[in-house]
Amino acid sequence: MSGFDLERLVPAHVASFQAYVPAPPDDVLLRRFGVTHLHRLHNNENPLGPPPAAREVLARWDPAQAAIYPQGDGWHLRRAIAAQFGLEAEQVILGNGANEVIGFVIKAFCEAGCNIVTADRTFAVYEWLASFSGIEPRLAPLRADGFDEAALLRAIDAQTRVIFLCNPNNPTGSWWDHARLERFLEAVDGRAIVVADEAYAEYAEAPGFPDSFALMARHPNLVVFRTFSKLWGLAGLRIGWMAAAPAVAATVRKISISYSVNLLALEAARASVWDTAHLAATRDHVRQGRAGLAALAARLGLPLLDGIGNFAMLRLPMPDTVAHRRLMARGVMARAMTSFRYPGWLRVSFGSAPAMAAFAEALEAVLAEV
Ligand SMILES: Cc1ncc(COP(=O)(O)O)c(C=O)c1O
Repeated sequence: MSGFDLERLVPAHVASFQAYVPAPPDDVLLRRFGVTHLHRLHNNENPLGPPPAAREVLARWDPAQAAIYPQGDGWHLRRAIAAQFGLEAEQVILGNGANEVIGFVIKAFCEAGCNIVTADRTFAVYEWLASFSGIEPRLAPLRADGFDEAALLRAIDAQTRVIFLCNPNNPTGSWWDHARLERFLEAVDGRAIVVADEAYAEYAEAPGFPDSFALMARHPNLVVFRTFSKLWGLAGLRIGWMAAAPAVAATVRKISISYSVNLLALEAARASVWDTAHLAATRDHVRQGRAGLAALAARLGLPLLDGIGNFAMLRLPMPDTVAHRRLMARGVMARAMTSFRYPGWLRVSFGSAPAMAAFAEALEAVLAEV
């Protein structure tokens, strides 16, 4: 082993990358914070869980099937998604969560010397995946807490291969409507792939939210991301997807990883497409959560940032990391936003009614200590 020089083997962009460290599991956190229960309001999960048909798939699942490889590219699920959105099955590519699909797009279109463009305060995985792939992430500042097309266009150059728009934006909830997205696509004029990450699109009730699949027909550089993790309540099974014009999808398919989506995820997701009763029930739940949080923010005099999605942000008169720890000690998990470049803010998912009540009580107690 004397010849082994790890440093020599590690690319500079990997050596300099600060690894993301996931939170420990709930059982460890319970012990660490000395509580018997933790309300999960930090990951934008759906407290209603998966739709009934997906639950049935999971309940009836034969454990002997665990020995069998899944079909390699989600044949049936891609057809179900395509039928729902008027696409061809070849336009749909599945991944182990939308996170894996972000990696597929970067791998398919970026090489050394290229860059991706996104916002400075958005879902960080675009920036991270680019950085540790040796691709420069260019971060355009948000304007009024939303993606700013002028700043994005200024950041683009001849080396830009992919522009990531988070629509609606995690964490601010801000969103572009159909006309705005179309204007942006016209301004980009095919110079780069434009990704519309629509992880929270199913929560959009506002008229005017983009019909991105229709835009894709006229703008073949548009790629749309969706996930089963949020409204469809399948975050634990890890399944997301992208849709693109046929030639773009064929390019991404070359480097996508077959068999990366497991059998259970494929079958539960297929059973979820497109349960409108679950969609309506979840939207109803979110409407109540949103109203409750707005009332709490008004009562406590806290600025609120809210838009589309199953979450909103609150500004605190104290460091968010301190508030986070104190809320944990009271059995509530909310997201401290310093890591999203929003110091002093907390992001709260609209959880179950008891979870929201526990949050309100814990937050009041934490603020009373300041
Ligand atoms: C905007 C956005 N995109 C993608 C993802 C990743 O979703 P998945 O669970 O499908 O990997 C998330 C998850 O939080 C998200 O907020």
